[in-house]
Amino acid sequence: MNETETLKKQILKKIEETLSLDELENIRISTLGKKGSLTEMMKTLGQLPQEERKLIGQSLNSIKIEISEAIETKKKFLEEKELETKVAAESIDISLPIRPLQQGRIHPVSQVMEEMLTIFAQMGFELAEGPDIEDDFHCFEALNFPKDHPARQMQATFFMKNGDNLILRTHTSPVQIRIMEEKQPPIKIVAPGRVYRCDYDMTHTPMFHQIEGLVIDKETNMGHLKGVLMNFMRVFFEVDNVPIRFRPSFFPFTEPSAEVDIGCSRENGEFKIESGKGWMEILGCGMVHPNVIKNCGLDPNEYQGFAFGFGLDRFAMLKYGIPDLRSFFDADTRWIKHYGFLPLDIPSITSGLSLNGGQKR
Ligand code: PHE
Repeated sequence: MNETETLKKQILKKIEETLSLDELENIRISTLGKKGSLTEMMKTLGQLPQEERKLIGQSLNSIKIEISEAIETKKKFLEEKELETKVAAESIDISLPIRPLQQGRIHPVSQVMEEMLTIFAQMGFELAEGPDIEDDFHCFEALNFPKDHPARQMQATFFMKNGDNLILRTHTSPVQIRIMEEKQPPIKIVAPGRVYRCDYDMTHTPMFHQIEGLVIDKETNMGHLKGVLMNFMRVFFEVDNVPIRFRPSFFPFTEPSAEVDIGCSRENGEFKIESGKGWMEILGCGMVHPNVIKNCGLDPNEYQGFAFGFGLDRFAMLKYGIPDLRSFFDADTRWIKHYGFLPLDIPSITSGLSLNGGQKR
């Protein structure tokens, strides 16, 4: 009797102390299993005299029940605990900072495009787009380049093989045509995008980016063009007095045409906007040629306006001091880590363009 009581206490103690379901199962097997200690004791009952057998049998049975119940209760308890731990481990803490995002960087071209669109949007320009693969009509013909005009040689064009007259656009000016064909004035758009020219050195890559501007209504003039560009430069370069000059030039699609230079110095490879040190050509512009307006089905006696176009990558190089244009398109992660921007640094006029963006150096 004492022996069974002690055994019972021992087993119950073990059950109470265990912290794992596996161990609990082992306790069950070693007591109630086929060869378990209690089962073995039951087997010896047969050898006892009848009176004793009855008594001990009864007590063994109640111990067995007690132990099974204790095991069941403990099992439920451990299972619940296990579930709790699992749920806790699998839950996502949404208050944690989004660290993985910080590893990516925004390419300077994307950042500068955002900055430019922010400025032009503020001045009331709408965003427009056109296809990279253009036809001869939109890229040249409608822009007043006659078939054999020498001006076409200014453009080192990539022609498509299939002979469909398709080319990779050499500038964003065909978007002017597409917009004027589609919309009635007043028109006030900017069109950023990829352009292609057969060229490759430190400041030229076969693919680069331009942004085109077009304003068409009844009285927009060259003074407006100058105002828009000066305001743009001031906000973009974040310098109050940007020295710029307009130089007469030629484009088949504008008349008169001008090129704009920015006053700057380049000392020790560092670019700085300042007057009196030198000039650098940065964009082409002019009043839209009456032939272009006519080619789009509008009346040049009624409508007029200006257009401008410039290299976006070039502006990024100037603003952020990036010396080699080719490195923009090398897909080198070390480069993007150095020159790229953090994803949440979205340019805005109110909080400052790059001040807010902050160059990640
Ligand atoms: N399309 C011209 C170029 O690529 C730039 C330009 C645009 C000039 C609009 C005048 C007006 O060089």
